[in-house]
Amino acid sequence: MRRIREFGYLVATVRDIDAWKVFAGDVHGMQIVEHTEDRLKLRLDERSWRIDLHRGEVEHIDAVGWEVRGPGDIEAIEKKLRDHGYTPHRATTEEAASREVTDYLAFEDPDGNGVEVYYGARRDQTPFISPTGARFVTKNMGIGHVMFAVSSSVPFRELYMDIFELGLSDFIDIGPDPGTFLHCNPRHHSIAFANRPGVAPRLGHLMVQVDDMDTVGRAYDKVLDGAAALGSTLGKHTNDEMVSYYVKTPSGWEMEYGYGGLEIDEETWVPGRWSAAHFWGHKRVG
Ligand SMILES: [Fe+2]
Repeated sequence: MRRIREFGYLVATVRDIDAWKVFAGDVHGMQIVEHTEDRLKLRLDERSWRIDLHRGEVEHIDAVGWEVRGPGDIEAIEKKLRDHGYTPHRATTEEAASREVTDYLAFEDPDGNGVEVYYGARRDQTPFISPTGARFVTKNMGIGHVMFAVSSSVPFRELYMDIFELGLSDFIDIGPDPGTFLHCNPRHHSIAFANRPGVAPRLGHLMVQVDDMDTVGRAYDKVLDGAAALGSTLGKHTNDEMVSYYVKTPSGWEMEYGYGGLEIDEETWVPGRWSAAHFWGHKRVG
């Protein structure tokens, strides 16, 4: 069984907390559990939080959080990281408490994005209540996926395939360097990355999935009416079959909001290679 169970949280430094509150809550149905001048904490399910945004002048991905089942997993991954030249930091009791987890390990990926490996995340006894009636598809699959534009795929494959031991879902030939899509649970991919000429290393998008196409359509209408800047029109992906649109977050990177993503059976899955990322739609705008 894989040590890494899911992509479970995202922590970021953002410039405009108030814009994020409207974007995440009013438009896309995430529950606001904390909102101050300096912080926005968002809930998507039974977990006490899934996205934690801190105000700062320089946009940065502080933590892509990967869930494991206990201290043995954290120690095994810490050893592999050190063997590969990483210098991970083990959280203090206070740091773990601030993440509402029992323990975590923190380090930076080869492009300086924060990465954490954690276990024992807090559940909330009160029900998740979405301001738009959205229900996010997270059970045993984490909050969704992230796709990064990277300086080179080589060290990212080492980190996520050799050290984290994520499974290869497939490749898409989206440029000279194929996009690499990896899974750790039935969600088709929890992370993807590609080096694209002329694209600076950064988070490209965060995908969240809802359980109803109408929820996607209603949010899409709000975006088309001007609630946020559309990135790509509604469309369907080849590899994970997701029907989704892309929208620019207040931080510049995008969010993919989708329905119907493929769930895979690891026992029978065979990685493929696609020549295109879309069956239809996903036309770039702006
Ligand atoms: Fe995506």
